[in-house]
Amino acid sequence: MDIISIAIDGPAGAGKSTIAKRIAKVKNILYIDTGAMYRAITLKLLENKIDPDDKEKVELVLEDTKIQFLNGNIYLDEVNVNEEIRSPKINENVSKVAALPSVRNALVKLQRKIAENTDVIMDGRDIGTRVLPYAKFKFFLTASIEERAKRRYIELREKGYDKSYEDVVSEIVKRDKMDTERELDPLKMADDAILVDTTGKNIDEVIKMIIGHIED
Ligand code: CDP
Repeated sequence: MDIISIAIDGPAGAGKSTIAKRIAKVKNILYIDTGAMYRAITLKLLENKIDPDDKEKVELVLEDTKIQFLNGNIYLDEVNVNEEIRSPKINENVSKVAALPSVRNALVKLQRKIAENTDVIMDGRDIGTRVLPYAKFKFFLTASIEERAKRRYIELREKGYDKSYEDVVSEIVKRDKMDTERELDPLKMADDAILVDTTGKNIDEVIKMIIGHIED
């Protein structure tokens, strides 16, 4: 039987991970959050006070880092970092780290390896264009900036972070700009992806739409 791979790409706060997690459950396939991997590397560089511009040090860290997904949790060097990687500090720094060719090459390699022999749904920025260009199903999720910022604002508040709505808007706009304009594997809709605008739609509606395409 052929391996099923589903690619979900889109800008920050479009609802990719919520949707992908639910679809993984319904279809009983593995969910891989590639953003979490870039976030984990960012956490490690920050914790070790390594300047992302210091290429040699970044490469040494990459060689000496283990990232794993176990039961829906992400582990950085055997430590569960699910919560820590979602902090505002990581939000502010991740796009710079994700633009580094050494980081991208290492993580794309790992992502492809995971998808090699397993049915997966992967979400990120370059899944349909670079990581799994042959994915059978590709979706590009988006929503208005106001809605994406509102979702992220509520999420951060619930986690106890004190951020204003305006700060969340500017952080998302800045990150989207960096992700779209970077040289290597920028955020871009694949030519053969289906565009899903989630503005004004609830999670169930979006899931129904996506499942409808998959089961067509
Ligand atoms: O959850 P949110 O959409 O805010 O972000 P994320 O999916 O956790 O991704 C965090 C950051 O990682 C993005 O802003 C990108 O800079 C980077 N990323 C990437 O470059 N390529 C991917 N495949 C996934 C994430």
